[in-house]
Amino acid sequence: MPSALDTPQEAAALAESLLPPLGNRWLHTQAVAARAREVSAAVPESERDLLVSAAWLHDLGYAPELHDTGFHPIDGARHLVRLGAPDRLVRLVAHHSGAVYEAEQRGLSAELAAYEREDSPLLDALIYADMTTGPAGQSFVFERRIDEILVRYEVGSVVHTAISKARPYLAGAIQRTQDRLTRAADQSANGL
Ligand SMILES: [Fe+2]
Repeated sequence: MPSALDTPQEAAALAESLLPPLGNRWLHTQAVAARAREVSAAVPESERDLLVSAAWLHDLGYAPELHDTGFHPIDGARHLVRLGAPDRLVRLVAHHSGAVYEAEQRGLSAELAAYEREDSPLLDALIYADMTTGPAGQSFVFERRIDEILVRYEVGSVVHTAISKARPYLAGAIQRTQDRLTRAADQSANGL
């Protein structure tokens, strides 16, 4: 019986069972999970574990064993469905970091539409954690992370085009998360 994947520990264990052979991808994943924990004040307390679980699993679909459509957010989501993961966790993984833009470039919009996107502080914070962490786990500011992706992929390629189109959407998620963190810090400084 697979685990229910409703704790960050279970999510981390699943990630660790598939991603370490991928090297940098595993370093990136561990750093995104740590970053998600750091910024978890941007989401309600009851959602903080889910944020960290989603961070552990967001890039699971890069594991060669899970290769299906070849688009990692969908391949990861499909595997999580097979494992009986909570719906919300599946949908967060399917829609992390503007997946809808790349799905369109790949002709996979219908496949991605099987999973509803929630526009929420939680998805914003997941985007923040991913988009401020470099490909080998470095800490990057958002603009540098986007520029780094654009340099890695050729102009006119699927990823380059998708990230260019997604940039304003991703920037909005970053800004909203920063605003929520500022508010949370102010409230705790004021003892509220
Ligand atoms: Fe990803």
